[in-house]
Amino acid sequence: MATAPATLAAPATRTDLLDRLQLALPIIQGPMTGSDTPALAAAVSAAGGLGMLGCGMRAPAAMAEAAAAVRAATDRPFGMNLFVLATPSPEPALVQAAIERLTPLYADLGLPAPTVPTRWCEDFDAQLDALIAARPAVASFTFGILTRAQVQRIQHEAGSLVIGTATTVAEALAWQDVGADAVCASGMEAGGHRGSFLDLSSSSQIGTLALVPACVDALAIPVIAAGGVMDGRGIAAALALGAQAVQMGTAFLACPESAIGAAQRAAMAQARGSDTRITRAYSGRPARGIVNALMQRLDACEAELPPYPIQNALTGPLRRAAAQQGRADYLSLWAGQGVALARALPAGELVRVLARELAQVLPGEAARG
Ligand SMILES: Cc1cc2nc3c(=O)[nH]c(=O)nc-3n(C[C@H](O)[C@H](O)[C@H](O)COP(=O)(O)O)c2cc1C
Repeated sequence: MATAPATLAAPATRTDLLDRLQLALPIIQGPMTGSDTPALAAAVSAAGGLGMLGCGMRAPAAMAEAAAAVRAATDRPFGMNLFVLATPSPEPALVQAAIERLTPLYADLGLPAPTVPTRWCEDFDAQLDALIAARPAVASFTFGILTRAQVQRIQHEAGSLVIGTATTVAEALAWQDVGADAVCASGMEAGGHRGSFLDLSSSSQIGTLALVPACVDALAIPVIAAGGVMDGRGIAAALALGAQAVQMGTAFLACPESAIGAAQRAAMAQARGSDTRITRAYSGRPARGIVNALMQRLDACEAELPPYPIQNALTGPLRRAAAQQGRADYLSLWAGQGVALARALPAGELVRVLARELAQVLPGEAARG
């Protein structure tokens, strides 16, 4: 049993993170590997939030290019995010079984059987060097945890604030222990992959309303709330729980500046929270998306699917072909439980609407700066 917190979300400490980042608003656009763009990040930053580039699948040169594109559009701070991953060396039999399982799905889209990719994922050390060279205001991480030495290197060489993603209090404490500046507490409502790294079981699927105050009470560093925050009410709720900012993915995915195609936009526009669930089908790592044929067919053999990044790499060409063919049934339709509240507004306008809504609920939280 927890003891009651000594104070409830003291306003004096609530602005630490915003001050360090010189942010007018407590709004972070969630990094969305494959779906965010420099234009999206720049628009959010220019409007007073923090734009982020999901660089999990960007090569080092593409990371530098994306960071330069944000800087060309705004002089406001922005962040970059990486997957903490080791390149795997899977057993050939595991890969062959995964290929055989996917072959009929490839055939459905008129594609030959998948082949073993030349690489399973980007090299993390090279990506980390590229991030440090880009010197973003924020360096955030998911899927794993850095060493204390890596955290210090980013803080000292790049001058970036280090944010670790956590899905449990134990993961949040682990990030605090290695010297992170803040933790992004990601509830199970969130769209996209779970950031879990200590326990990938369903025990780590904790709702935002339960996870955020538990992290706030346990940590001495700022907590950012992620998962299900879609409008000013949601932001106010997260601040009331003691979060210093929110990280919103699904809400920004609907903006015209995101990279998603027409089929995914149409699927999002029709979806409700009950149309999403967490699956390992698309990538081998638990992730929330809108249920479609690809998810249903692969979920039937979920326990046998290889882990991330193997399944992710093997389904990649299939999902890219589905995007080109406008086939929402074979896309990875990442989206959170708040999807029905998404508004297809330009990102800068969405940030301004969110700020107005927040000010209506919490008049003291009007934009500073
Ligand atoms: C399409 C998509 C891709 C995402 N990719 C990443 C990523 O690369 N790195 C990361 O840390 N979080 C990623 N996320 C999580 C978001 O940054 C954010 O924390 C999450 O979407 C918040 O929950 P919400 O979707 O309910 O707003 C992704 C989310 C979505 C919807």
